[in-house]
Amino acid sequence: MTQSIRARYEAAHDDGRPLLGGHRGNPAEHPENTIRSFRSAIAAGCDLIECDVHLSSDGRLVVIHDHTLERTTNGSGLVRDHTAAELRRLDAGRGEHVPLLQEVVELALGKVGLVIEIKQVPIQYPGLEEKLVNMLRQLGAVQECAVVSFYHPSIRQLREMEPKLQLGILEGARPIDPGRLLREAGADVFSPHWGAMDQQLVKDVHAAGGAVGVWTVDDDLGVAWCKLCHPDSIFTNRPVEIGAAIRA
Ligand code: G3P
Ligand code: CA
Repeated sequence: MTQSIRARYEAAHDDGRPLLGGHRGNPAEHPENTIRSFRSAIAAGCDLIECDVHLSSDGRLVVIHDHTLERTTNGSGLVRDHTAAELRRLDAGRGEHVPLLQEVVELALGKVGLVIEIKQVPIQYPGLEEKLVNMLRQLGAVQECAVVSFYHPSIRQLREMEPKLQLGILEGARPIDPGRLLREAGADVFSPHWGAMDQQLVKDVHAAGGAVGVWTVDDDLGVAWCKLCHPDSIFTNRPVEIGAAIRA
């Protein structure tokens, strides 16, 4: 069923349950950020899947976490120094390839919300935001996707470009005023590591009209903390086990 990502958040809030997000798909069982990993997260009942995006040397949006190729593929060097065709020939684990973002959007459409993290730090990709918005518009996917980043100026830029796109700011620390950060960036979702969340932070974000999405909840302590603080979405590398635990 086609459902906007904002509607998914509203429905989950009304039901009093957090959305389950597959972080890089289901990397506990399949190579991260591959089509097989995303398919598995969808089959595991995730409401959302998360992926990481860079630009290839020929300007294509590609899905891989690191700026370098060594950890997750049999290639070497920087992602930005390879064409999309070169990246596609690499083995990203168990015969999987580095997907184009377009493939992941097409897989997610009508099934799950897609959270796209744009990796604009430390390496910058000029023009990435414009390419991303154009692609989401062409695919009719603006309202089924969210874009998040540690690089808040990109989120601000995206807000000016596309008011209908759900946007999130990633944060490592516990800020004094998360609502101010949301307003400055024009973002909808405040997205910290779960250990930087507390009950007051969730209250403050909700009072500012935002939602809280935490990463990466992979163990019992993280689940227990989420049950105490009630974030709106929970991203995990172990969607099967953590999905069962948060829904128990
Ligand atoms: O969703 C946020 C989270 O993915 C940020 O950290 O390094 O796993 O991309 P990272
Ligand atoms: Ca990420």
